[in-house]
Amino acid sequence: MTHIRLRLNRDGSEEIARFDLPDDPAESGISGTWEGASVSTALQYLQRKVDPSLAYVLSCRRGLCDLCAVRIDGKVETACTTPLRDGMLIEPTRASLQLRDTVVELSLVRRHRVA
Ligand code: FES
Repeated sequence: MTHIRLRLNRDGSEEIARFDLPDDPAESGISGTWEGASVSTALQYLQRKVDPSLAYVLSCRRGLCDLCAVRIDGKVETACTTPLRDGMLIEPTRASLQLRDTVVELSLVRRHRVA
């Protein structure tokens, strides 16, 4: 069993929220295990089961649209294609464009080429 704790910068401040994913995947409503699951899957779980106020973006789920882009341990990645790792820090792509949690103003993202 793999224990995974995620760190999430929700408001652009120094304060980091910590979320522990349940060790038993059956508790999570996720089929299989957390190993190999994506960051998007974890964000979806957290929003549905832990904190309904958590905001994230998900669209194609295949790494094609870049709408789910977040900063993971300092590097911009697509959440839907990045596998979970224990201790990873998830932040908006650019704090100055943050609307809420990992959601940023997309029209500005395109203009500023955040990645
Ligand atoms: S949802 Fe489209 S790239 Fe992740």
